[in-house]
Amino acid sequence: MNDLVVRTRGMTRKFGDVTAVNEVDLDIAKGTIYGFLGPNGCGKTTSMRMLTGLLTPTSGELEVLGNTLPGEAEKLKYRIGYMTQTFSLYRDLSVKENLQFFSKVFGLGHREEKQRIAELLDLYDLTDLAKQRAGSMSGGQRQRLALAASVLHKPDLLFLDEPTSAVDPESRRDFWEQLFDLSDAGTTIVVSTHFMDEAERCHRIAIMEHGHKRADGTPAELMANMATNVLEVEGKDLRTLRKELTALPEVRSAAQLGARLRVLVNKEVADPEAWFRSLPQSKEAQQVCKVRPNLEDVFVTNTGNLPEPGQPAKGSGQ
Ligand SMILES: Nc1ncnc2c1ncn2[C@@H]1O[C@H](COP(=O)(O)OP(=O)(O)O)[C@@H](O)[C@H]1O
Ligand SMILES: [Mg+2]
Repeated sequence: MNDLVVRTRGMTRKFGDVTAVNEVDLDIAKGTIYGFLGPNGCGKTTSMRMLTGLLTPTSGELEVLGNTLPGEAEKLKYRIGYMTQTFSLYRDLSVKENLQFFSKVFGLGHREEKQRIAELLDLYDLTDLAKQRAGSMSGGQRQRLALAASVLHKPDLLFLDEPTSAVDPESRRDFWEQLFDLSDAGTTIVVSTHFMDEAERCHRIAIMEHGHKRADGTPAELMANMATNVLEVEGKDLRTLRKELTALPEVRSAAQLGARLRVLVNKEVADPEAWFRSLPQSKEAQQVCKVRPNLEDVFVTNTGNLPEPGQPAKGSGQ
C-alpha cells in the first residue's frame, strides 16, 4: 500500500480526431488539494470523468483509491463525490429535499440521513434556507448546497469541476475555507479551475494545455523552477516596446500591466537586468527590475507557443 489516491500513466481519451486528454501521468497523495489549471477545452472535465469511472479511457493505466479503472469503477461509487461543472441538483426541490434525495441514492439509513442533513445544513450555512427551492437561490448558496450534496456520504475523494465559476469573490473565499476543512479531515480533493488565484490555493497543481499536462508541482516549486526570469519595466511607449521585446528570441512573453510591462526572459540569460539595459530599446525604459514570479508567469512560461512535447520551444536554447 502507498498513500497515492490517484495514479495514472499515459491516461488518454480521444473523441474522434480530438485527443481531449493526451498521455497524462498523475500522482495524487492522500489529503492533497490537487488542481487542474488550464483554459476551456484543455481536458479538465474529461480527466475528471475518467477518474470518477464515468468515462472509459482510450488508453492508459488508471488507479483510483486502489481500484483499477475502468474495470473496478463500480467500487468507487460510495467512496467518491463529484460536483459537476453545471449545477446538477433539482431546481424544483427544496434544499432539504435535495439532500434527502441524495441520501437515498447513497443508501444512508433513516437516522443517519436525519443526522447528516442537520449537520450539513449547519456546516454550510443552509439551515435558514432548508425549505427554499434550489432554483431560487443565489450562485453562492447553490454552490454550498452542491458541495453539501457531494459530501453527504463522506467520500474519501472529492472531485470539484470549476466549482466557483459562478460565484462572487467573497463566496469563493468561504468555499475555499470549507475545502481546507475537508482536506484537514483527510479528504483528497481534485479541483479544476481557470483562475490563477484559485490554483494558487491548491497544495499541488497540474498545468494543462490541449490535453497535455505541461508541468506539475506545488505552486512554490513551479515558481522556483520556472524556465524564465521576470522583469518589470516602466517607461514610455510601452505598446511599441512590448512588440519589440516580444520579437526577441530571449523573450518568452511581454504583457502590459497598467504603467508597466511584465517581461518573461529565458533563464539562459544570466543577468536579465544587465541584458535589458544593453538593448537599444532600453532607452525607452525609465526603470527595470527583476521581480518574483507569480502563478500566471508559470502558466505563460509553460504554455502558449510550446510545441508538442519533445520538440524545442521558442528560445529554449536547443
Ligand atoms: N463528449 C465529447 N465529444 C466530443 N468531444 C468532446 C467531448 N467531451 C469533450 N470533448 C472535447 O475534448 C476537449 C476537452 O474538453 P473538456 O475536457 O471538456 O475541457 P475543459 O473541461 O478543460 O474545458 C475539447 O476539445 C472538447 O471539445
Ligand atoms: Mg470543463
